[in-house]
Amino acid sequence: MPAIAVVGAQWGDEAKGHIIDLLAARASLVVRCQGGPNAGHTVVTAQGTFRLHLVPCGALRPGVRSVIGHGVVVDPFGLLDELDTLAAAGVDPSALVLSERAHLIAPYHRQLDVLEERARGEAMIGTTGRGIGPAYADKASRTGLRVCDALSPSGRQELRRAARHAERLIHGFDDGTAIDAETSPSEDVDRYLEALERLRPYVGDTLTIVHDALDRGETILLEGAQAALLDLDTGTYPFVTSSCTLVAGALAGAGVPPSALAATVGVYKTYPTRVGTGPFPSEMDGATGDLTREIGHEYGATTGRPRRCGWFDAVTARYSARLNGYSAVALTHLDVFDTFPTLRLCTGYRLRGAVIDRVPPMAADLAACEPIYEEVEGWRVPTNSARAVEDLPDAARAYIARVEELVGVPVALVTVGPERDEVVWLRPLL
Ligand code: IMP
Repeated sequence: MPAIAVVGAQWGDEAKGHIIDLLAARASLVVRCQGGPNAGHTVVTAQGTFRLHLVPCGALRPGVRSVIGHGVVVDPFGLLDELDTLAAAGVDPSALVLSERAHLIAPYHRQLDVLEERARGEAMIGTTGRGIGPAYADKASRTGLRVCDALSPSGRQELRRAARHAERLIHGFDDGTAIDAETSPSEDVDRYLEALERLRPYVGDTLTIVHDALDRGETILLEGAQAALLDLDTGTYPFVTSSCTLVAGALAGAGVPPSALAATVGVYKTYPTRVGTGPFPSEMDGATGDLTREIGHEYGATTGRPRRCGWFDAVTARYSARLNGYSAVALTHLDVFDTFPTLRLCTGYRLRGAVIDRVPPMAADLAACEPIYEEVEGWRVPTNSARAVEDLPDAARAYIARVEELVGVPVALVTVGPERDEVVWLRPLL
C-alpha cells in the first residue's frame, strides 16, 4: 500500500495528531514533512497525553518507524528535549530517523524571529517565536545549515559562517542588543555542536528509507503540519507560516512522488480556530467564542496562547479541498458542539456589497468579508460514547452531511473526544 497524506485543512490545530495516531496503527512509516517546532501535535494514549513538536506521531505506536523529512526545520535542543521526555514516559524513540538534508534552526533564528515580529509593530504576525521564518529564509537564500553540513568535519566552520551572517542581520535591528540576553550567535557554537552530536545516532538517509518502503508496498503516512490557510503561497499572506503546508509540500518534504499517493485526508475541525493575528471571517462573537474555547480547551499546544474560535467556514473549506484534492475528510471535535442549541455554517462572504465564494488574496479584503451564515439545529445530547454512525443523533448526522455537501468531499470519520477510541467511522479511507 502506498502513501497517505494527512494535512490540516483550515488554520491549524485541527487535531491532526489524533488522526495521524489512528492511521499510524496501520502504517509502517510516519513522516513529518515540513514546518518545525511551531507545530504541536497532541496525542492521547494509555500512557498519557503527548505534545509532539518535531517527533512524528508514529513514534507513539510500537513497531512504527518515524522519519523527520528533509522539508522540516529542526531545532536540535527542542528535539533532544522531546526525545528525553518521550524516553522518560517509557516511549522508545530509537526508531526515529532524522534526515541528513533537514535544515537547522539555531538560537539566532529564534532571536531574529522575535526581532522581526517587534519590528512589524501593529502588523505583527503572531509567530510562535520558534525561528521558523528566519530558518526557512536562510534555506531559500542558500545561507542555511543542514544537519549533514553541521555534522561534517567542517561543521564548526560552517556554523561560524552561518552565525556571522546572522549576527550581521541581528545588528541591523536597532534594538538588536535588547533580546541578546543569551549569547551571541558565534558563542553558541560549542553548545550547539554538542547537541548535534547527541542527535548523530538518529541521523540518516531518509530518502532511501522512504523509497525502499514504497518499493516494498508498505503504507507510509505523510504527517502534515500547520494547514492550508497558513500556506506560504495560498494562505492568508502575510499571516502565514513559512513552508508549503499543502499535500504538495508534504510530498516534497518527504521525497515521495505524487504517483505514490493513494489517499489524501483533509482534517477539518467542526469549528476552525486560529492563533496569531490575521483575517478570520467566521470568527465567533465574544461569548460564543469563549464558550467554545473553554469546552474545546483551545489553547496553543506550542505557546499556550488562547485560540480564536469560528464557525465552520465553507468558503475556505472548499478552497483548501480544491488545493489539496482530498479523497476524504476527517471532521474532529464534533462533541464540542454537544450543548449548543443552534449552529452556524458560513456559506459565503459579502465583500463591499457583493457576494463572493472565493478567498481574496489581500488580507485586508478577507478581513473586510462579512460571513453569510445558515443556521442549523444543534443536537443537545452528548456524543462522546458514539462509536458508529447509528449512535449519532439525527441533527449531528445532518450537520455532517451538510459539511460534506459544502466541502464536496466525503467525510470518512468524525472524532467525538480526544481518546484513541473516540471515533466514528463513516466509510473506509481507501
Ligand atoms: P510561525 O510558523 O511560527 O512563523 O508562525 C506563523 C503563523 O502560523 C502564526 O500565526 C502562528 O500562530 C501560525 N502557526 C504556526 N504553526 C502553527 C500550528 O502548528 N498551529 C496553528 N498555527 C500555527
